[in-house]
Amino acid sequence: MKQEQTHKSLKNIDSHGHVRGESIYVDDIAVQQGTLYGAVYDAPVAHGHLKHINVRKAKALPGVVAVFTAADVPGENQIGGIIPDEPLFADKEVHFWGQPIAFVVAQTEDIAREAAQLIEAEITPLPVITDPREAKEKGELIAPPRTFVLGDTATAWQACPHVYSGQASTNGQEHLYIETQGAYACPAENGNIKIHSSTQGPTAVQKTAARVLGLPMHAIEVDVTRLGGGFGGKEDQATPWAVMVALAVYHLKRPVKYILHRMDDMRMTGKRNPYTSDFKIGLDANLKIIAYEATFYQNAGAAADLSPAVLERTLFHCTNSYYVPNVTATAYSCRTNLPPNTAFRGFGGPQGMFVIEAAIAKAAQALGVPAADIQQKNLLQAGDSFPYGQKAENPEAVSSWSAATRKYALDHIAQQTNAFNAVNAHYKKGYALMPICFGISFTKTLMNQARALVHIYHDGSVGVSTGAVEMGQGVNTKMLQVAAQVFSIANERIKLETTNTTRVANTSPSAASATADLNGKALEIACRKLLERLKVVAAEELAIANVTDVTINNGWVHAKGQKTELDWNTLVLQAFLKRVSLSEVGHYATPRIHFDQSKEKGHPFAYHVYGTAITEVTVDCIRGTYEFDAVKIVHDFGASMNTIVDKGQIEGGLVQGIGWMTLEELEYNKQGKLLSNALSTYKVPDIYSVPKDIQVEFLAAEGSNLAIFKSKAVGEPPLMYGIGAYFAILNAVRAFNPQVTPAFDAPFTPEKVLTALYE
Ligand code: MTE
Ligand code: HPA
Ligand code: MOS
Repeated sequence: MKQEQTHKSLKNIDSHGHVRGESIYVDDIAVQQGTLYGAVYDAPVAHGHLKHINVRKAKALPGVVAVFTAADVPGENQIGGIIPDEPLFADKEVHFWGQPIAFVVAQTEDIAREAAQLIEAEITPLPVITDPREAKEKGELIAPPRTFVLGDTATAWQACPHVYSGQASTNGQEHLYIETQGAYACPAENGNIKIHSSTQGPTAVQKTAARVLGLPMHAIEVDVTRLGGGFGGKEDQATPWAVMVALAVYHLKRPVKYILHRMDDMRMTGKRNPYTSDFKIGLDANLKIIAYEATFYQNAGAAADLSPAVLERTLFHCTNSYYVPNVTATAYSCRTNLPPNTAFRGFGGPQGMFVIEAAIAKAAQALGVPAADIQQKNLLQAGDSFPYGQKAENPEAVSSWSAATRKYALDHIAQQTNAFNAVNAHYKKGYALMPICFGISFTKTLMNQARALVHIYHDGSVGVSTGAVEMGQGVNTKMLQVAAQVFSIANERIKLETTNTTRVANTSPSAASATADLNGKALEIACRKLLERLKVVAAEELAIANVTDVTINNGWVHAKGQKTELDWNTLVLQAFLKRVSLSEVGHYATPRIHFDQSKEKGHPFAYHVYGTAITEVTVDCIRGTYEFDAVKIVHDFGASMNTIVDKGQIEGGLVQGIGWMTLEELEYNKQGKLLSNALSTYKVPDIYSVPKDIQVEFLAAEGSNLAIFKSKAVGEPPLMYGIGAYFAILNAVRAFNPQVTPAFDAPFTPEKVLTALYE
């Protein structure tokens, strides 16, 4: 018990290295002698025929070693994962501003960048589409639309005395990982290549490099120490840069490194998918939602990337944490001439959830009731069906709502808000509740598998490899805890190795909040196999008749609960001397889950995560600016494995969500050029936009056996608490200007707030 306590409050094992600046990122890897540096030449227009590329001047620059284009690809010039629709280098056409056309390799980074500027491409312009609704009109779809149906909305409207419809939009979001994209590749023997990549998906990099180079996967080794943030932006989009350096190594047999500068990264990479949507909601006289229809237009950008999967998750989460008996939700993935958009914390879920929250806010305003009344009346109960067929098993929707409103005294918040607004003319307060429900598992069933490799060295120290990538979310700390708890040895005995495709193969990306569950379960399996083997050795050593009487506790062998003379290190050495294997692998595949896309029904998620946030804001009605007074959360962690790490995920996710909903305004012009292309024009939350008071209460919930040690996944769900920020501001605006017609057009920037105040 005591040991479990110390495990649960274990600090992130990376914190020491991080604060001392000693942690290694791709750009910190000591380079080999003879290393060359790359730079990309990318499209200066968003759409056009690529007639000719002139690289002569670039090649002539002293220090330039090579310039690679589509013509130099020995295998397939193709990096599309879900749909093969994205070339590594633009070939006959360019499809977005910032699309890579050529890769320059030179003696220094400065020379490579200078040479890239000497490249000239002859491109005859084609019409540019940036708006998803326009793309849909013109038939520019990435894939056929998807529709989820529950009950029958067509007939249900008749039973609804109250029906409201409208539009809601959410803009994209720049990932802004602190470590920009980059990779460093080195030649190995016999034409093999080793790539260091800042990727969430080492296997995706390996597979795509092999495809582009025309090599078998075993020729490519990908190694990841850690990421300075990924947030979904490196699930797919770390790949092109890694493949480019690998291509250069293939041709030049020299190490090649390429790290994107911030503005290059912002210009060339895709972001959270912007969405624009239509909704229609019908309620009965008791505020029960009887019917809900939504049509989502996803701005996919110029290629599929992960957008079809993101689109699917929008549909999965289109009713958030509410039970709606009649639902028709259709989603279009629309091809535009923007950089291909991609995974971003929540993976389409937040975009879907914003729309039903907007529909509820609209209905509440029309009916003259608080939105919270409608929200509360419709929370999921055990046995309720989601539109995709899965039943809510232990929904913590009601319990987290009740706990939040009770613990944080919602009545009091309401009173205080009204009292403040009654006496203040130029400042208005608003609050909003945001319940969340998020499904845990990759929506693609096959991706829900993982493996681990454990070595116990004969001095008793342990090396752990899994498919998990550390990106700041603390997964390595949790993996260490899994091994330490199964073996019951000190944390210091265990080391987390880098994530490497040669040690753990065929990995799913670290994503979908499922990394700790999948890799932790695989690791638990491997450790248990070793533990059983060691117990047999211990029984022999101590002449204990029954192996089941043997346990290991805090580094000592116990017999029938009594501490013996045999410690872990001696036991391990004895096993080695007896030629017992001290290495093991574990494989885990989530049981129970399935999904039939032809019916759009199934049981895609291992479990759901719930919670409720109360957001309080003060709006300055002269300036349109706002400050978040408090966000008070009750969150369903299950049985949290690590309260510090998990609380950090809540705080970080919340603030990232608030940024998306309020400040972060992604702006492309009609020609498809990114205008918000630097941190001077793209505003992200800083210390001043963090709520003054963040409270996080752990809901006493049972957890799930499909979560590692019943500790529920925590990575993405808290981002969605940030959606409450939009509606809290809206409520403050309404206190000033009751006539306002909400635009439901996030982010609610101070400019938009000011317009709404004086509409
Ligand atoms: N936290 C930090 N610090 N850095 C990150 O890049 N990514 C988020 C979330 N929390 C991220 C993060 C996203 S998008 C996901 S899917 C999960 O972490 C991935 O890690 P997990 O599966 O271990 O939760
Ligand atoms: N979440 C995150 N990443 C993914 C998913 C998902 O459901 N499916 C494929 N990649
Ligand atoms: Mo997270 S968007 O699944 O990388």
